[in-house]
Amino acid sequence: MYDIKIKHQKYEDLLVLKDLECQISKGDFVVIMGESGCGKTTFLKIISGILSNYEGEVYFNSLPLHKKSKGSLTKIRGEQLGMIFQDFQLIDFLNVKENIKLINSKSSEEEIDKILEKLNIAELKNKEITKLSGGQKQRVAIARALAGNRKIILADEPTASLDSKTSTEIMEIFKMLNEEGYSIIMITHSPQIASYADKMLYLYEGRFETELELKGLEQSKKLKTIIEVVGKHYENSLAI
Ligand SMILES: Nc1ncnc2c1ncn2[C@@H]1O[C@H](COP(=O)(O)OP(=O)(O)O)[C@@H](O)[C@H]1O
Ligand SMILES: [Mg+2]
Repeated sequence: MYDIKIKHQKYEDLLVLKDLECQISKGDFVVIMGESGCGKTTFLKIISGILSNYEGEVYFNSLPLHKKSKGSLTKIRGEQLGMIFQDFQLIDFLNVKENIKLINSKSSEEEIDKILEKLNIAELKNKEITKLSGGQKQRVAIARALAGNRKIILADEPTASLDSKTSTEIMEIFKMLNEEGYSIIMITHSPQIASYADKMLYLYEGRFETELELKGLEQSKKLKTIIEVVGKHYENSLAI
């Protein structure tokens, strides 16, 4: 699905990503971790075609994103990638259905009903966003990401604004979607949240310094392994 080789990416003089390479396959559930400001969001912006000021190659389903115009990157993103953010990014003065329709103008009423049912929020269809809880808002954002038959979810700290119980509920949805074949690439600071993934990439000094294969492990074992890697980096950062 993705074959990525970023030589470097800079914001003016600030070098953020350097010699970063990775492959992500269809159906993967990948989590990206790393300290604040290390470039996680920047990486997600590159692979979703929002950012193109880097040197390197990013192939998405054999399409060279690095060679595409802004317009075609927007089209690819709109058709294939479901984006989810910490702050939901819903339009408050529109209701749930209108929010989903806004970026999925071709979605039928039936399709929207089906997705809302799948996420257990059918009764919220005509509700205003301001009347929803954080967890409900994030479910709506997930519904919006799935509409239009998109099968890839890119989520930037999707649980950072939620309490731990609601965060777990959102992760159970991600788990269900991944089991159905959706590919998920997610950023989080929380080892607990990360322990839902099958692969952990730890971003450090511009590249993925550690790649942890977690597939097939029990969740408690995943958590232990993730905490070890995160803890090691934390200790190193204290030692400097
Ligand atoms: N648009 C921008 N212009 C200049 N610097 C930026 C911009 N976006 C991010 N940065 C800087 O790049 C670094 C990486 O940012 P980011 O990718 O958001 O990190 P993370 O998501 O890991 O916290 C940070 O030092 C941040 O301040
Ligand atoms: Mg970020």
